[in-house]
Amino acid sequence: MPPQMVASKVMSPVRNLEFLVIGAGVAGLRAAVELADHGSVLVATKEAMAESNTWYAQGGIAVASDDEGDTRLHLEDTIAAGDGLVYRAAAQVLVEEGPQRVAELIEWGARFDRDRGRLLRTREGAHSRPRILHANGDATGAEISRSLIEFAHAHPRIQFAEWTTATALLKSGNQITGAQLLARDGTTLTLHARAILIATGGAGQVYSETTNPPVATGDGIAIAAEAGAYLADMEFYQFHPTAFALHGAPRFLMSEALRGEGAYLRNQKGERFMERYHPLLELAPRDVVARAIARESIGDDGEIYPAFLDLRHIRNIDLHQRFPGISSFLAQHSLDIARDLIPVLPAAHYLMGGIKTDLDGRTTMPGLYAAGEAACTGVHGANRLASNSLLEGLVFGARAARAMLCDTPSSDLRALDESFSAPATTSTNGADTSTSLAQLVPQLRHSMWNNAGLLREESTLRTGLTQINSITNAIEELAGHAAPSRLLAEARSLCCVASAILNSALARTESRGAHFRTDFPAHDDAQFAAHSIFSLQNAVHTERW
Ligand code: SIN
Repeated sequence: MPPQMVASKVMSPVRNLEFLVIGAGVAGLRAAVELADHGSVLVATKEAMAESNTWYAQGGIAVASDDEGDTRLHLEDTIAAGDGLVYRAAAQVLVEEGPQRVAELIEWGARFDRDRGRLLRTREGAHSRPRILHANGDATGAEISRSLIEFAHAHPRIQFAEWTTATALLKSGNQITGAQLLARDGTTLTLHARAILIATGGAGQVYSETTNPPVATGDGIAIAAEAGAYLADMEFYQFHPTAFALHGAPRFLMSEALRGEGAYLRNQKGERFMERYHPLLELAPRDVVARAIARESIGDDGEIYPAFLDLRHIRNIDLHQRFPGISSFLAQHSLDIARDLIPVLPAAHYLMGGIKTDLDGRTTMPGLYAAGEAACTGVHGANRLASNSLLEGLVFGARAARAMLCDTPSSDLRALDESFSAPATTSTNGADTSTSLAQLVPQLRHSMWNNAGLLREESTLRTGLTQINSITNAIEELAGHAAPSRLLAEARSLCCVASAILNSALARTESRGAHFRTDFPAHDDAQFAAHSIFSLQNAVHTERW
């Protein structure tokens, strides 16, 4: 769990708000810092500041080294991993602007691991070179989070609203003008802002097996879709190959950097199996490794048995020192990183799709911007290259902020509507709603894992859709009577995200990257070398960009 950082500087009440940033991971904070030099910013986040997917990122941040050739190679690696769907212009922005954004972050106080002053770089899957910076061994996201939180906290024009959930966007015509927020005590607050950025991260909680923390319920994606914004590429959910897999233990991430440092993958028979799947063996693209593990883990009796990470042969580094977080997690489960086989299975990890944006975070609704995992620029295509996500947050967070400044002149400063309202009184009591949600949400998550997981086909996707529709109806029924609550808002978000994933996956009758259809196992470039666009109003269609 991240420490409870920054609780003092909270909104109460907010005045003269110009920009609202929803989400406090790397993309939201980087944007807030850029915006705050020009106007007042409120960063609203659902829990304490550090509780985000960013904080839990382990392996590192991929960034081209000084060598000019490495920028080109980083671009090529990103495009190759994305399996024919990376939007080249977005990847170019990422690799070209990345080094400057990281240098700036170091200036602001981020401390990456070094050897005699020189930044250490490791390798991960599908990278042609070691270019991944890391911090405190395997706690890179936590260090990036810490440094950005401290930097943002020092800025007089940034305020924070912790434990605050965004439940809806407000619009006038097609223009997004504000948001409705729900505080921990149940009060609702309507805010109007010059521009709003959604940086709420991913939605791993839509699956029963995930490396993501409980906050990752796709709220920003759902409220944007509800307001009419387009989503893109929602069928592409990345399953990390190696989440810890011991009965009863959390699905803690076993970083890809373990394989970058030489870890082998073995099946239950003790065989190294990756040679049957890809010439890059354990460092093949993530979708390939995840599917290989899924295949190898089916026992003769049809049951699922974990594969293993094996680091026992590694002698050139001190594994406890290089991976202190993983090592201490394993010790809690009586396993030694250097001596024991580590049981692993894939789990939902990262959403390549999200709110459709241009290269500057503009969504399809004026006034609404998105960046980071909540957004889809097409930078990752069908399969994200390892450790490109923290870089994406930095680069596209900064770009979205610049677009927000430039698109909305300061004379647009909106009056605040400080309409604090008491929670509505209703006929259903909160305990009944929580009990019902405690049954419905796990049903949704299991249905998604069983029907829209690593391998899917028309029949499973249709089953999933039927189940999700019925769960959605039950949740909407509850919402009709219940007081607004974070649990309810999250359940509704998960329904929306699940529906977008299922519909987009049904429409893509081919396999590509993280989306593998057993009934259409090959690429169909003629029809599908294109991005899927989902909206609540229209059927899924494709666009080429
Ligand atoms: C990891 O450490 O394996 C995660 C890195 C990533 O998701 O890019």
